[in-house]
Amino acid sequence: MTFTQQDARPELESAPVSEWWRTAVIYQIYPRSFADASGDGLGDLPGVTAHLDDLKELGVDAIWLSPFQRSPQKDAGYDVADYRDVDPIFGTLADFDAMLAGAHERGIRVIVDLVPNHSSDQHVWFQEALKSAPGSPERARYIFRDGAGENGELPPNNWESVFGGGMWKRVTEADGTPGQWYLHIFDESQPDFDWTNPEVRAEFRDILRFWLDRGVDGFRVDVAHGLIKAAGLPDFTPDPEGGSMGGDAAGVPYWGQPGVHEVWREWHEVLAEYDGDRALCAEAWLPTVAQTALWVRPDEMHQAFNFHYLETKWDAEALRAVITESLHEYAAVGAPSTWVLSNHDVVRHASRLALTAENPQGAGIGPKSPGKPDPVTGLQRARAATSLMLALPGSSYLYQGEELGLPEVIDLPDDARQDPTWFRTEGERYGRDGCRVPIPWTADAPAYGFNDTGAAWLPQPAEWAELARDVQREDPASTLSLYRSLLAERRAHGLGAGSLEWLDGYGDDVVAFRNGAVTVIANLGDTAVELPDGDVVVASGPWEGASLPTDTTVWIAAA
Ligand code: GLC
Repeated sequence: MTFTQQDARPELESAPVSEWWRTAVIYQIYPRSFADASGDGLGDLPGVTAHLDDLKELGVDAIWLSPFQRSPQKDAGYDVADYRDVDPIFGTLADFDAMLAGAHERGIRVIVDLVPNHSSDQHVWFQEALKSAPGSPERARYIFRDGAGENGELPPNNWESVFGGGMWKRVTEADGTPGQWYLHIFDESQPDFDWTNPEVRAEFRDILRFWLDRGVDGFRVDVAHGLIKAAGLPDFTPDPEGGSMGGDAAGVPYWGQPGVHEVWREWHEVLAEYDGDRALCAEAWLPTVAQTALWVRPDEMHQAFNFHYLETKWDAEALRAVITESLHEYAAVGAPSTWVLSNHDVVRHASRLALTAENPQGAGIGPKSPGKPDPVTGLQRARAATSLMLALPGSSYLYQGEELGLPEVIDLPDDARQDPTWFRTEGERYGRDGCRVPIPWTADAPAYGFNDTGAAWLPQPAEWAELARDVQREDPASTLSLYRSLLAERRAHGLGAGSLEWLDGYGDDVVAFRNGAVTVIANLGDTAVELPDGDVVVASGPWEGASLPTDTTVWIAAA
């Protein structure tokens, strides 16, 4: 069976397929951990600018920056106090403009993170809401409710925060009496906006324009499956085994409510006012691929992260199934499928793919976690998995440091951890710090070249010297060299714009397909696989003769 982007919508055959985001490889920069020009231990925008040539050399089409807007950093910047300014720890608006111009000069597009579900409690609107009376327009921008119980002493419903604990916090009214409660899906420092309020909607359209006017190419939209809550806020108890962001759970009253689609239609129109192809990418954790595809219908967002792919185990049958389903469901709405293996919220795939115990998203891994991964197996699988992913048609996301094969940092000391999940669950869940450690650039330099002072907001492991970019750059067998080859061959063969045809006859434990002139074979089984004729243009690991060992992927071009 062959899939193309037009499969299920013949009328889209004349639709443009040339928009950059349909095929782009987009590299996620987590600014606090990328590069630190100021030397204070937290990365910054001048640090990004200083390394744009490295990203050009790597061969990515675009970068997505996690939040750098003004924020008290209670959730690493996903708690925004001013959506129209750069936080001083990351630099200034002028630094942003310089970074954007530098990226554009090199042909690299720039997507910024936008966090519409909630603000920081330090946002001027929330501060005004606290000072204002129940029922006032200031309170109506957020979700304030009277408490249950005789004196309003109980939260309005039983919802549990994604980061642990309850989802409501009680405020003290201006006259000093215990008052209403406000909703926070995440930390109590992140109050949820009321997206049924037209004032909130107008404000965000204006924020979009602020960044579009500066020249950004699009937005990664945080918690795009949140925003609208079910009417009446009915009680709901999540499955304790489920991922913290929703994942498989159906019928959750605060995720995936139909009303959000109106918001995306409004935003789509705002982007359409601008020239160039500007794009919206949804962070939406939903039960099925088909439901996620609803976020990227032609008049809504342009892309959605394929978390179903990310969450698929290292298993050939499961991978074939999710790839087939994704190509089919996204094609049905005329959108490209995206592919992703790592980001700042999940265990890095060089560790995750070798875990031997269940590990729900958001739990993280730490010293006491069961089923810790074997690092050699993890890296081998990660290289094979990325080699498979980058051959798929559509758009792919990479997360900074995966091109160095960085593993999750498991043994962070307790007192170094900063994720609110760790605090709100009293250490029961480690959270996401292990994938956020500042990345190594230079083996023999303070903080491995993250800065020149040696400061780092999370400690870097001693083993990372050998993973530093300068060491890997010189080594043709390194993970960095593999990523460079994959990106160059992907571009040369137009794989992002290609189509996938499954190949039979390699056995159940092998993922084999053709995309244009390239045959891709990934061996996930224990026994070696005979390779067909042709030139191996990229291999994720060593192979001998015509025999492909376990946990290895090759790309073969027709001879
Ligand atoms: C998204 C972000 C995550 C953040 C959360 C709350 O899931 O990716 O890092 O904690 O939203 O904004």
